[in-house]
Amino acid sequence: MPTPESRFPALQNCIYLNHAAVAPWPQVTADAVQAFAAENARQGTLNYPHWLTVEQALREQARELLNAPAAGDIALVKNTSEGLSFVAYGLDWQAGDNVVGIRQEFPSNRYVWQSLTKQGVEFRQLDLYDHPDDPETALLALCDARTRLISISAVQYTNGLRMDLAKIGEFCRAKGILFCVDAIQQLGAMPFDVQQVQADFVVADGHKWMLGAEGLALFYVRREILEQLHLTQYGWHMAEGLTDYTMEEYQPALDARRFECGSPNMLGIHALHASLGVLLATGMTMVWEQLSARIQYLVDGLQALPDVEILSDTRIERRSGIVTFRSRTIPNDKLFKQLQDNGVFCAPRGGGIRFSPHFYTPFAQLAQVLRVLAT
Ligand SMILES: Cc1ncc(COP(=O)(O)O)c(C=O)c1O
Repeated sequence: MPTPESRFPALQNCIYLNHAAVAPWPQVTADAVQAFAAENARQGTLNYPHWLTVEQALREQARELLNAPAAGDIALVKNTSEGLSFVAYGLDWQAGDNVVGIRQEFPSNRYVWQSLTKQGVEFRQLDLYDHPDDPETALLALCDARTRLISISAVQYTNGLRMDLAKIGEFCRAKGILFCVDAIQQLGAMPFDVQQVQADFVVADGHKWMLGAEGLALFYVRREILEQLHLTQYGWHMAEGLTDYTMEEYQPALDARRFECGSPNMLGIHALHASLGVLLATGMTMVWEQLSARIQYLVDGLQALPDVEILSDTRIERRSGIVTFRSRTIPNDKLFKQLQDNGVFCAPRGGGIRFSPHFYTPFAQLAQVLRVLAT
């Protein structure tokens, strides 16, 4: 019977509370990459047809994770930033249009919209700190007749605030506004349903909660708006009938593969396929139940510490895999160092310390973290 330590070897070395940054790989992922490396060295691409079956299987896993209507609605791209750039530079902007987002977003979800100002597009940013109780209503109030797109993260990377995507999606669909979701801090941590939230675009790299390698992201585009997005990258792999290299005229793939211009990241595909296998075999409902229980445990423990102030919204409907806190008496950098020195791998974010365990993190490790903070 495999133990948690044999399935997730990082458990043997440290207390890994940094899945919101880059996750350690499960053992099956390391095995898949090692087998792929050995095969490459031994026989190169002799068995490429098998690699293609792994790629197809990953596409189906991605469909399941997002509850997308079809696997072909999802492209395998480089990273979250690339997907957001596909959206920003694929739409037909008119001077005077605006994009609505959030001031505290990760840079990937701000810089690209700011870059559109040279085309006369305004980027309106909600300050989350001004609207802690109901950020969605405040966000929607920034929209007007010239709003073309709302782009936000499903979960804020600093404090783990989970947004009510369904509320925003419903508003966008009713008003004819496009809705773009950076789901990197949600996918793999909790269930996600792209149809229920009515997103037009969803993008997420695989190296956080999905437990994959850096450099391979899922990019969903709603089929009905595929043709609205101009292509900004070109190559053999994005064509319908991609194996016919002699075509003089080509047609972009009829599905989201049109955003994959060249050779796929087969190494990343093998890794993410193995990692998503772990999550989907557990079931995303169960993954979230277990992760949520760990967050509750941390919240209870942190609340019991007199010096500690929790910076995350602890309401259940706002919860994610992230809890951020600070000490009222110890400077943040000192507290961070104290945690590091005690084998706790976490991150300083949002003016505090960000903890991001995953569903497999043992409660005993969380108890140890709380003991470190209590001393
Ligand atoms: C909300 C959010 N978006 C995007 C990224 C990273 O983007 P990329 O996949 O382009 O590296 C991060 C990484 O921390 C993030 O927290």
